[in-house]
Amino acid sequence: MTQFLPGQAEAIAEVNALRERITVADIDTMSLILGQAHTHNAWTDKQVSNELLKKAYDLAKMGPTGMNMQPMRLVFLRGEEKENRLVPHMLDSNREKTSAAPLTAILANDLDFYKNMDRVFPIFPDAASMFSSNPEMARENAERNGTLQAAYFMMALRSVGLDVAPMSGFDPKGVNEEFFGGTNSTVNFIINIGHGDSVGVYPRLPRLDFEAVSEFK
Ligand SMILES: Cc1cc2nc3c(=O)[nH]c(=O)nc-3n(C[C@H](O)[C@H](O)[C@H](O)COP(=O)(O)O)c2cc1C
Repeated sequence: MTQFLPGQAEAIAEVNALRERITVADIDTMSLILGQAHTHNAWTDKQVSNELLKKAYDLAKMGPTGMNMQPMRLVFLRGEEKENRLVPHMLDSNREKTSAAPLTAILANDLDFYKNMDRVFPIFPDAASMFSSNPEMARENAERNGTLQAAYFMMALRSVGLDVAPMSGFDPKGVNEEFFGGTNSTVNFIINIGHGDSVGVYPRLPRLDFEAVSEFK
């Protein structure tokens, strides 16, 4: 008889039960998350609840990452905290857009992510020392996996009915000093979040076709 790892039987049952319910996402769901979704530049007054953010995170956290590492850190800002502490570090038109958004999230990567490895990847007890002894490898993995988590989070935010506007136009040094002093976290990018006012969407820019980016060997 096959020897299962602890929890493996439950994982197999979970996948089988899912496949019985659904194997392909419906087209409207895919359109909401990717196909017809747009980046937003203007916002309605409707506020974003903490519950909705948690719901999105609880979905996003299930996305796969290398060795199950989870370097993404989130700082959510509204009102005066956003206006006084973040907006001055935004560049050009991002300043006005960030002021206008009901909520803004700073997405950072924690370069000390490996301190959780014994909990998140217990099957490899030496994982933490692999990263603590090699800061360059830790940084590379934090950036890769933190950015993956950030992408999952944006898709999850859209799936719970929110709109997003990612931005890299800001002063990273200023943001790091203001929000991550005394930590080993460093800003990745920033997202305005809310219920978008469709008057603020821009024309769709061309995406590269499958044929232009793919090779079969
Ligand atoms: C990582 C990242 C950084 C971005 N930085 C900015 C920015 O600083 N300012 C801005 O107005 N838009 C920014 N954008 C928005 C993109 O230009 C926009 O998402 C893209 O053109 C797709 O638009 P669409 O979703 O309407 O098709 C950024 C997007 C991403 C994913």
